[in-house]
Amino acid sequence: MSKICVLGLGYIGLPTASMLASAGHEVVGCDINAAIVASINSGKSHFDEPDLEMLLAAAIKTERLRAQSTPSEADYFIIAVPTPFMDGKRPDMQFVEASARSIAPLLRPGDTIILESTSPVGTTERIAAMLAGARPDLHFPRHTDETSPPGHVRLAHCPERILPGNMVRELVTNDRVIGGMTEACAEAAAKLYATFVRGDVFLTDCRTAEFVKLVENSYRDVNIAFANELSLIADRLDIDIWHAIELANKHPRVSILSPGPGVGGHCIAVDPWFVVDSAPDESRLIRTAREINDGKARYVFERIAKSMHRLRNPVVACYGLTYKPDVDDTRESPALEIVQHLAEKTDARLLVCEPNLEALPPGLAATGRVELCDIDAARIAADIVVFLVAHRQFRKINPNQFLSKIVIDTVGLMHSPQRFAAGMTPSRPARMADEAILKGTQT
Ligand SMILES: NC(=O)c1ccc[n+]([C@@H]2O[C@H](COP(=O)([O-])OP(=O)(O)OC[C@H]3O[C@@H](n4cnc5c(N)ncnc54)[C@H](O)[C@@H]3O)[C@@H](O)[C@H]2O)c1
Repeated sequence: MSKICVLGLGYIGLPTASMLASAGHEVVGCDINAAIVASINSGKSHFDEPDLEMLLAAAIKTERLRAQSTPSEADYFIIAVPTPFMDGKRPDMQFVEASARSIAPLLRPGDTIILESTSPVGTTERIAAMLAGARPDLHFPRHTDETSPPGHVRLAHCPERILPGNMVRELVTNDRVIGGMTEACAEAAAKLYATFVRGDVFLTDCRTAEFVKLVENSYRDVNIAFANELSLIADRLDIDIWHAIELANKHPRVSILSPGPGVGGHCIAVDPWFVVDSAPDESRLIRTAREINDGKARYVFERIAKSMHRLRNPVVACYGLTYKPDVDDTRESPALEIVQHLAEKTDARLLVCEPNLEALPPGLAATGRVELCDIDAARIAADIVVFLVAHRQFRKINPNQFLSKIVIDTVGLMHSPQRFAAGMTPSRPARMADEAILKGTQT
């Protein structure tokens, strides 16, 4: 069993630290946010994730995990800090760099540093160079074709693929790609993951591992952009996109994703920009996909604004604020962006139904324009109903209850696949009302 220091105790770092502790390691979690440190030391997670609370409580109780605001000496350092983008969609590496600086004085010969943060190609090498500058007394690999004899510090990139909502299970079952600065670096990292990962572990060099993670998220983004573009075309041609995709997917080699109000979250909406930034001339498809997905939220906003024109004192009920169903995460959420725009740019009374949040996100609350409401109260009061996220509570909604409303369904909740599964000749999509807008979207 090893001594491990995990830097960053957010959506990735906390489940990872808790899992390592449950595998028997001695884990110190380090986060610059004092409230997060206090919450974790009391055994409480600062975000909702199935099974995490139990794993964390056990880790704290057995004293295998403790949180603090500065890092400690360890055999392994795992960096899981944010990698957002800044203006101009350029990667903002300040958190990764700060965490690397914070461990520099603690490093000892033979320690292993694992970068889990999703990073532009070349980041692991840059950290190695930075640390080599800070610690001339230690040996760091400088090139991926070097060897790492015992006593040299090892560096690897091990990107994370876990799905919010299923993180604890996927931490164990997912296959992992581990890219070392050298082969020995990859092997040292793999030895740690072997203590809790049951999926296959694939070793490569750090540049390839960095690229693979960005490729995975770009692949998702491009495919969602295709579905979102189709939804715009279908709107223009007055075709039910849900029905059209359902039928197209009957082709044995076609599998179109669902459209949505845009793409959100900390990964898919961000990481493709790292690829574009590193090879702008070659990344034309990836850039266009990003633009299509970002543009979809603006399009939905304009549809809602347009549908208000004929109403006096319109009341708009928006269902969902988070970036995807059944989570409490609103980062980069297109639903939040749409409601924020409605609050800032229209006079409508705005009701929001979001079963995963106890309070409005601060930026939205600051507008003073939005009321949190339950499902039925929002429906009863609304002239216009906008479905933005397909939360499980909304999937139970009876479409007939919305017959008198203008419905803008961006996630296909009002779509009825049974009609087609029964082999009936598809007719025009059932219109909820004369003004209903049914051709929607869902990520
Ligand atoms: N959330 C996901 O589903 C997911 C999935 C795959 C990969 N990733 C990647 O994992 C990385 C972390 O993402 P996250 O969602 O866990 O972020 P997060 O914002 O939830 O957590 C990051 C934590 O790091 C802390 N932090 C910042 N700087 C620090 C420093 N110098 N030292 C110690 N702590 C510091 C922050 O206070 C925060 O609590 C990102 O690169 C992200 O792209 C995230």
